[in-house]
Amino acid sequence: MEPLVLGIETSCDETAIGIVRGRTLLANEIASSVDEHARFGGVVPEIAARAHLEAMLPSIERAVKTANISLRDIDAVAVTAGPGLIGALLVGVASASGLAQGLGRPLYGVNHLASHISVDYLTHSDPLEPVIALLVSGGHSSLLQVDDITGSITKLGATMDDAAGEAFDKIARIMGVGFPGGPAIDALAKTGSATAIDFPRGLTTSNDWQTRPFDFSFSGLKTAVARYLESTPDYVRGDVAASFQEAVVDVLLLKALAACKQTGINSLVIAGGVAANSRLRHLAEQRCEKVGIQLRIPAPALCTDNGAMVAALGSLLVSAGRAPAANAFDADSSLPVTSINLR
Ligand code: KG4
Ligand code: ZN
Repeated sequence: MEPLVLGIETSCDETAIGIVRGRTLLANEIASSVDEHARFGGVVPEIAARAHLEAMLPSIERAVKTANISLRDIDAVAVTAGPGLIGALLVGVASASGLAQGLGRPLYGVNHLASHISVDYLTHSDPLEPVIALLVSGGHSSLLQVDDITGSITKLGATMDDAAGEAFDKIARIMGVGFPGGPAIDALAKTGSATAIDFPRGLTTSNDWQTRPFDFSFSGLKTAVARYLESTPDYVRGDVAASFQEAVVDVLLLKALAACKQTGINSLVIAGGVAANSRLRHLAEQRCEKVGIQLRIPAPALCTDNGAMVAALGSLLVSAGRAPAANAFDADSSLPVTSINLR
């Protein structure tokens, strides 16, 4: 029988519980505190942690009911150990460890970023690895080589400043289109032209391609958009959103495909909240098809933070025979992506 795993995710503002059996998703419950943060224009850690405390038990109960299982049937508990907001992570880790101990089941402390990638296994059943992963979220933007999602991830490059999602959020804030900014810009961009304004593509000079081919930078783009808005009183909002989005998406894909080419790995997975972006998904399909690269992007609802991804990685760890966490462990707000399974 395939392992029944419950996953808990609390690294940011979603209290999310996922239940999987093997690679089959049984429940994916999400309670978000996003509305409580909206008026601050960003996630307030203290508010997020308190919201996790309130939402935890009802969310677990809902997930168990949806999955139509009994808590006693669970074979293992997995929880996001990091990276993320420390106070928020601690609520998840404490809850998961209490649950695992109470049930007498193993506890896995898993990496949030590796979870984003491993959720693809719930959608595609053929082997993922080896694969180049473009991981784009609100806190991270990295290019990774994944040889084994349960044991070997190598970092090829990362952002030097803002994460891709952070850039969306900041531009949305400047334009006053709401928080989180990604979905708002994505929608607004559909009303404008992606070629209206030629915004800069960070780290793409010939020197950059020599010295840091797989790193990203979005702060120059952010400044360029802010300057454009200031100096162009009659700007067209849709054009700004579409042209900004195109600059981000273009450079993400240029570098991801260059990583595939250099490593000789002809398979690409795009994961993290920004992978829900409609333009990124569309352009990735077009460009990958052109050069014969197999593309995998999880369904949009599985790209943004969720519990299914944590349960998915937990299930893969159990199936691979990886050891669970020895005892109580600490959450790590800056857990590196190479640390997949906390021991
Ligand atoms: O992975 P995620 O849910 O949380 C983190 O781990 O950070 O990613 C959240 C980020 C936010 O910055 C949000 O604006 C962005 O993903 N995002 C999007 C879209 N949906 C969410 N960015 C662009 N287009 C979208 N449709
Ligand atoms: Zn995330």
